[in-house]
Formats: sequence, C-alpha cells, structure tokens
Amino acid sequence: MNSADISRSITISPRDQHFAFSTIKERDWLGGDPFRSLVFNGLSITFPAGERFFIRSVKAFRGDIRNETLQSQAGAFMAQEAMHTREHVRYNQRLEEHGCRASMLHEETEARFEWAQTRYSDIEHLAATCALEHFTAILAEELLSKPDLLADARREYRDIWLWHAIEESEHKGVAFDVYQEVMQGKGYWLRVRTMLIVTVLFLQHMGRIFTVLLQDIGQNRSMSARLRLNWALWGKPGLFRKVMLNWAAYFKPGFHPWDHDNRTKLKEAEQFLVYAA
Ligand SMILES: [Fe+2]
Ligand SMILES: [Fe+2]
Repeated sequence: MNSADISRSITISPRDQHFAFSTIKERDWLGGDPFRSLVFNGLSITFPAGERFFIRSVKAFRGDIRNETLQSQAGAFMAQEAMHTREHVRYNQRLEEHGCRASMLHEETEARFEWAQTRYSDIEHLAATCALEHFTAILAEELLSKPDLLADARREYRDIWLWHAIEESEHKGVAFDVYQEVMQGKGYWLRVRTMLIVTVLFLQHMGRIFTVLLQDIGQNRSMSARLRLNWALWGKPGLFRKVMLNWAAYFKPGFHPWDHDNRTKLKEAEQFLVYAA
C-alpha cells in the first residue's frame, strides 16, 4: 500500500474530550519544571488561532475535492481541529489564571494569521496549513513515541497532549492530500518555499512567546533561565532538536506525510485515552 492509499484508509474519529484543568493547582504541571512546562504552554497558546486558520484553509477547497473519502476526511479534520481549539482555549485560560499573558499572546498570534489571510491567496493558505500540519505531525510523533516526555506530567495535561497528538497524527495527510488534489501533483515549489517561510516565522514567533512567558514567571532577566529553556528545546529532552530530521523530509519531491507509517503506534497510544473520560 503506498502512502496516499494508507492516508485514504485512515478512519479519522473526532473524540469529544473535555479536560478539567481547574483541578490542577500547579502552574508548572510538567514535573514541577517551569521550563519544560513553558515549552508546551507556548505551543498551546498558538493553537486556537492556528487551528482556525487550518479549518478556513481546507474549507476554502472543499468544493474542489472529488475523492469522496477525502471529502469526508476533510469534514472529520475540521471537527477535530475545532475541538482542539475549544480545549486549548480552556487550557490557555488556566495559564492566564496562573499569571501568564496568554490572551495577549493569543491576540498577537491571531494578528499574524489575519495578516497572512489578507496578504496571501487561498492556495498559499493551504500550503501554509500543510507546512504547519507537518510541524504538528512531527511533534505529535515525538510525543507518541517517547512517552517519557510526559511521564511526570499532571494527568489532565498529559491527557490533552496525548489526545491532541493522536488526532494530529491521524489526520496528518488530510490538508496535504487536498493540496495535492487541487494542484494535481504540481505544487512542489510552492509547498517547499512556503515551508521555509513558515519555519522562519514560526521560530521567530515562538521566540517572542517564550520571552513573554519567561517574563511572566519572573525569569526573563536570568541568563541561566534562558539557557535552561533553550536546553529544554534543543538539548534534553530537546523537543525541537529531535524533530529536525522529520522536518527535513518535507523537502523530498515525492514526500507524503504517511511515508512515515505510524498506525501501530497510534493504536498503542489510543489505550491511554481511557484516562481522559
Ligand atoms: Fe489540532
Ligand atoms: Fe492538525
């Protein structure tokens, strides 16, 4: 079975989960470590604006999808992203309650996506969505294959990240397949050029978010705090460092998100979701 066939064979199931963040009193929910917690919190802040952008980007081409399976997968993709947004809005509210300027950073993220929305065309939005969906897929893969990354997390937070990782992995081919269908396989240069731009903007924006979050926990002036945050990102556990090889795979001319077939891992991870009922 080739990657495109695997993609069509995947059942995408929106799982309507709710997470009780208010039961967790600690701000530093990941092993009491402010820096490792901050890496995930920073990503969470970008999701509501990002995922609404993904939904709009795919929705703009729904009428052009001729493959019936892909048509229904696109519907399930939008349903999953809408639920992720709903739960990350709640997650981010909890950050705000802990004194982090999550809503200000959300507004800044929203403004960036709105800028892209007016500045670029529908197909460029879809190419940006494919690039960012590749980011979420490779980060998800990291979480699914290294359970120790979240081993010392408070349960609600571990569950939301696991739930999100499973669904991101499950729908990783959808935006890409819509793009391929619309571009009839001729979208390589736009796809890779967009990935380069998106990567620069993403790293720059995450830098801004991490700086504000460090200020919010009173650590911005400390050089050792900055080093510890960068160590958490690029050293150990090194979430960003570990996904670099997978990031580079996107530049292969015949790349498809399901070239990396992780269906077995997805099935294994699913058993943990019973905790999130
Ligand atoms: Fe998502
Ligand atoms: Fe996604």
